[in-house]
Amino acid sequence: MNYRSIAPIMGNLWSPIAAVTSRWQERSNVQIAVAISAASIVPDMPRVLLQIYKTNHSHGMIYNSGGFALNFLRRDQLDLIKTFGFVSGRDKDKLKDVPFRLGVAGNPLLQDCWGYLDCRVVNAMDGGDMTCFLADVVDGDILHEAQAEGEPLWWREARRRLPAGWMEEWDGKIAAEIEISKTRMNQIDLTPDLTHLA
Ligand SMILES: Cc1cc2nc3c(=O)[nH]c(=O)nc-3n(C[C@H](O)[C@H](O)[C@H](O)COP(=O)(O)O)c2cc1C
Repeated sequence: MNYRSIAPIMGNLWSPIAAVTSRWQERSNVQIAVAISAASIVPDMPRVLLQIYKTNHSHGMIYNSGGFALNFLRRDQLDLIKTFGFVSGRDKDKLKDVPFRLGVAGNPLLQDCWGYLDCRVVNAMDGGDMTCFLADVVDGDILHEAQAEGEPLWWREARRRLPAGWMEEWDGKIAAEIEISKTRMNQIDLTPDLTHLA
């Protein structure tokens, strides 16, 4: 297979950019994610799927707390991709100067974004290098000021607008993570293990 020829198809599958917040043992964290999709056909029983890499600090927080919030970014919030997505919460409190409140599921909700979904995990699938979380959406809203702006920020648009230096930094980070993923992708545990949430 020519992987380059399917890249435009794969690239179109990434979701709008979300700041994924989580809270565990009184500590809050945030990371960027684009591997998100809707996962319910029942309008009043909404669900989402979210893929989180095991190397991320957020992974343990989401796995242990059983919750996360998806805070979708506005098109003018490009800088948050670097602030939240290029460094780990292990090294820095990324929410220190960011206004948020805790939502009904106990997750941090950013006060300044396009809109949010507050989610409770109902199941998870081991993907080797990442975990795919299935979650109920228990609350959500489009923020008032954002309604006039229409679309949230998509990665395929954002990557064209990011400064060249940021893209170089990102390419270096993702190259290192690709190497880790290559070794872990096939190490899949087929035993479900979310009993600690029951
Ligand atoms: C545009 C973009 C998209 C990303 N998408 C995902 C994703 O879907 N899932 C994921 O686990 N990490 C994704 N990341 C990587 C994390 O945001 C990044 O590794 C972050 O530093 C992890 O932070 P943490 O260690 O505090 O959890 C993405 C990063 C960027 C910049």
